[in-house]
Amino acid sequence: MTYNIFFSPTGTTEKVVKHIGKNFTNIEDIDISKPDLSNYIINTDDFCIVGVPSFGGRVPEAVALRLQKIRGRHTPAFLLVTYGGRAYEDTLKELKDLLEEQNFICIGAAAMAAEHSIVSQIGAGRPNEEDYKELDTFLLEVKKRLQTELCSIEVPGNTPYKEYKVLPMEIKASEKCVKCGLCARSCPVKAIIPENPQLTDHKRCISCMRCVNICPFNARNADSAKVDMISEKLKKVCQPNKQNEFF
Ligand SMILES: Cc1cc2nc3c(=O)[nH]c(=O)nc-3n(C[C@H](O)[C@H](O)[C@H](O)COP(=O)(O)O)c2cc1C
Repeated sequence: MTYNIFFSPTGTTEKVVKHIGKNFTNIEDIDISKPDLSNYIINTDDFCIVGVPSFGGRVPEAVALRLQKIRGRHTPAFLLVTYGGRAYEDTLKELKDLLEEQNFICIGAAAMAAEHSIVSQIGAGRPNEEDYKELDTFLLEVKKRLQTELCSIEVPGNTPYKEYKVLPMEIKASEKCVKCGLCARSCPVKAIIPENPQLTDHKRCISCMRCVNICPFNARNADSAKVDMISEKLKKVCQPNKQNEFF
């Protein structure tokens, strides 16, 4: 069995994990963006593809706790981090450590440059056809690794990890909101009040941008001054376009 495991607020990581999964058979998806996740024990002869986005160069808050519900039995895992063209810093290292604690062996990893989920002009359209070609070439090597003795790979990153610092985006609903509740149902951390989706619990919100991304009425927006500020900063640090990295 191959498990596609992903935390993907705005869908890019999910798309890439599923693309990787197509190279294998007997797929089951485990969406760890869902707050009410069941417990899983994954067997030695199974394989997991685990993808998360980089938030502030770290694994997003909430993922560590969710991963505690998924245990391996010396099970091989492939790690994916998508990042919005700035840097992924300690994300891959942290993800590897979390999975090893859950008894997985990390036999391969990729850090893929992606469209930035706060400022979509940064890295727009990535991963693109070229990126997927690079990934597919590397996956041939991963398939070979799965057929030989399983070895844990090295990935970049530091311990202690950098401080988890993500600028709160202060997402609010506008007058366009019809209270359909889709955002409240989809929020990975239940930060939107179901009885009144115009209210957000800003202490819970992880600024993942899912509600902004999925609202059919474009009624949810991050604080525009903050988006402009981030956009200016990113324009400088995201040049030149980042390369994908494979381990
Ligand atoms: C709160 C937040 C923090 C982010 N931090 C970083 C970062 O530190 N470096 C980076 O290159 N991209 C960063 N990004 C961009 C995402 O990593 C990137 O867009 C990712 O592909 C989103 O994945 P998803 O579509 O699966 O949610 C951040 C995005 C958000 C919402």
